[in-house]
Formats: sequence, C-alpha cells, structure tokens
Amino acid sequence: MGLGYKFEELGFKLTIIATLVAAEAKPGCESKCGNVSIPYPFGAGNGCNINNNFFIRCNKTFNPPKAFLSTTDIEVLYISLDGYLRVQNWVGYDCYSSSGRGSYFETWIAHSPFPISNTRNKFTAIGCDTYAFVAGSKGPASPTACVTFCNNLTHAINGSCSGLGCCQAAIPKGMRSYKLSFDSFWKHSKVLNFNPCSYGFVVEDGAYNFSVLHLSDTNFSKRKFPIILDWAIGNQSCAEAGMNPQNYACKRNSICINGENGNGYWCKCPDGFQGNPYLSHGCQGK
Ligand SMILES: *[C@@H]1O[C@H](CO)[C@@H](O)[C@H](O)[C@H]1NC(C)=O
Ligand SMILES: *[C@@H]1O[C@H](CO)[C@@H](O)[C@H](O)[C@H]1NC(C)=O
Ligand SMILES: *[C@@H]1O[C@H](CO)[C@@H](O)[C@H](O)[C@H]1NC(C)=O
Ligand SMILES: *[C@@H]1O[C@H](CO)[C@@H](O)[C@H](O)[C@H]1NC(C)=O
Ligand SMILES: *[C@@H]1O[C@H](CO)[C@@H](O)[C@H](O)[C@H]1NC(C)=O
Ligand SMILES: *[C@@H]1O[C@H](CO)[C@@H](O)[C@H](O)[C@H]1NC(C)=O
Ligand SMILES: *[C@@H]1O[C@H](CO)[C@@H](O)[C@H](O)[C@H]1NC(C)=O
Repeated sequence: MGLGYKFEELGFKLTIIATLVAAEAKPGCESKCGNVSIPYPFGAGNGCNINNNFFIRCNKTFNPPKAFLSTTDIEVLYISLDGYLRVQNWVGYDCYSSSGRGSYFETWIAHSPFPISNTRNKFTAIGCDTYAFVAGSKGPASPTACVTFCNNLTHAINGSCSGLGCCQAAIPKGMRSYKLSFDSFWKHSKVLNFNPCSYGFVVEDGAYNFSVLHLSDTNFSKRKFPIILDWAIGNQSCAEAGMNPQNYACKRNSICINGENGNGYWCKCPDGFQGNPYLSHGCQGK
C-alpha cells in the first residue's frame, strides 16, 4: 500500500516510461482488433483476458473490425496499461422546430464494468435554451445538471464553456452507467432561428473545443466523442490482493498501485524496467 502511494508521486516520469512500454497480448492471443491494440490483462479470445471484465469483443463484420468492451455496446478506441481506456459515445440531442419538439435522443452508457473517470472527463452541454442532466446508477441522489443560455449568438464565446452557449460540469466518482437527458425553458422558441437543438455528451477533458458554429449545426447530432474509463483489477487493494499470491495480477518485478476511482488495483513496471507487468515474464530490465 505504502509503495503504491509513493509511486504515484512520480507520476510525470512514469507517464513517459509507460508510453515506451510495448503493449503485449498473452502469448497465442490476438494483439489487435482493427486499429486497437489489446494488451493483457485485456484479451479477445478464450483464456486471453484475466477475467470477464477484460474481454474485448472484436466484431469483424465491421471494416476495419471494431472492439467492444466485454458484453456491452461500448466501443473501445484505445487501451492503456496505465489503468485507463478510451471509449466512444454518441452525442445526445433535443431538437425543436416551430411546431415543438422534433427529435430527442438520450445518450447513455450502460453496465460498464469500469467506472467513468471523474477526473479525466467533463459532462458538456451546448445550447441557448438548455437544461441537461446526467443521472448515474451510482452517482449522488440528485442528478448532475448543467444549464446554458444565450439570447444572441454574439454572447457565446468560442472555446468557453461557462454557461453562455456551452456549459461543463464534473461527473461523480464511481459512475458505471448514466443517462443524459434534456429539458428547455421555452422549447427553444426564442432562439429557434440560430439554435434549434440542445446537445449533450460526456467527453474526455481537452477533446472538445466549443465553437459558436455548433449552436446552429444540426449535423452535430451525428458526432461521437471519446470518454475515459478507469480500469482496475478486482475489488481489493494492493495490500489485500498481495496476500493471495495465486490470484495476484502483478507479476515479476512489478509494482502495485491502488485504483483511485473505486476498488481494485493495477500493476506497473518500475523505472528502468519494461514489459507487461501482468504477464508471467513480467517486467524486465532495459
Ligand atoms: C485506423 O488506422 C489507420 C492508419 O493509422 C487510419 O487511417 C484510420 O483512420 C484508422 N481507423 C479508425 C476507424 O480509427
Ligand atoms: C457485430 O456487429 C453486427 C452489426 O452491428 C451485429 O449484427 C453482430 O451481432 C455483431 N456481432 C458480435 C459478435 O458482436
Ligand atoms: C445580437 O446582438 C448584437 C449586438 O449586441 C445586435 O447588433 C444584434 O441585432 C443582436 N441580434 C439579435 C438577433 O438579437
Ligand atoms: C479552440 O477553437 C478556437 C477557434 O474556434 C481556437 O482559436 C482555439 O485555439 C482552439 N483551442 C484549442 C485548445 O484547440
Ligand atoms: C468562432 O470559431 C469559428 C470557427 O470554429 C469561426 O468561424 C468564428 O468566426 C468564430 N467566432 C468568433 C466570434 O470568434
Ligand atoms: C449536414 O450533413 C449533410 C450530409 O452529410 C450535408 O449535406 C449538409 O450540408 C450538412 N449541413 C451542415 C449545416 O453542415
Ligand atoms: C469482489 O470480487 C469477487 C470476485 O469477483 C466477488 O465474488 C465479490 O463479491 C466482490 N466483493 C465485493 C465487495 O464487491
């Protein structure tokens, strides 16, 4: 436990090392699904993943093939051995015409085996008559909400999500499912000629840059954005898991780090070592 804590303080140095580490699948297992590399403890075949949560369903009816997380419909874009994965999700929308609400789509993530990162994502909504809220299965009792108004496009500012045309809010820790819903105060009637739709999405920090043009772009509803999930092994701390060497995931020379978003732990090769800390040959000196 103590080791894990000390190691996190070296965060900056570790990030650089981690990017140099080759992502390795378990021997005999597919190392890629389309564009996505699949390092162990993840795996796409029988016996290739450490447990069901780490199964990657590679759907080859798509060209290139698409990777999905476990039994969910969550599409995986990138798997990092540093305890996170990047997935992709649709934008939610609430669109109006002069005759009232036209189309409405609540975007969601359901039954993710791993929590949605509360530190690396932002709940974002754009619109000029927009009340958007995220209700999570494991969030606080009341949903996280975000409100944005503008009675004139000139009030919205490119790159700024402070409530004039765009708003952002943090999402709660430990959330594995959510539904993003909308409401409006005047059904967009006062802003219809420049903002017929409200849009909402959870997005990786830094991956969305608000533009005033998005307020009037009805094609924005077709966009997808990346979301970061925090993965960890099991539901025990390093200290607890280390007492049961048979099931302990951190192999030779590796270091254990406690998960920060919920339970579980992950493993890391220390400075001067490289390899996949979850495989039996573990971390090797460079
Ligand atoms: C897959 O990778 C290729 C080459 O890097 C790139 O051109 C293509 O856009 C990628 N496709 C997807 C779906 O990410
Ligand atoms: C692959 O995707 C197709 C099209 O969405 C779907 O019909 C099929 O059930 C999927 N197969 C698997 C194994 O997920
Ligand atoms: C928006 O504001 C600008 C400057 O304040 C003004 O010139 C313009 O007429 C306004 N447009 C509308 C539709 O209210
Ligand atoms: C965001 O977009 C604006 C133009 O709309 C641009 O000036 C700015 O540099 C962009 N910021 C980032 C972080 O990409
Ligand atoms: C906002 O950015 C868009 C490009 O994304 C640009 O066309 C527009 O002129 C910018 N508006 C303002 C007010 O800076
Ligand atoms: C929306 O997409 C359609 C088809 O992709 C395109 O024809 C249209 O010009 C787009 N509209 C805007 C406002 O970008
Ligand atoms: C921890 O995980 C084990 C194995 O997946 C499971 O049986 C157990 O119920 C879990 N305990 C808690 C507190 O979630």
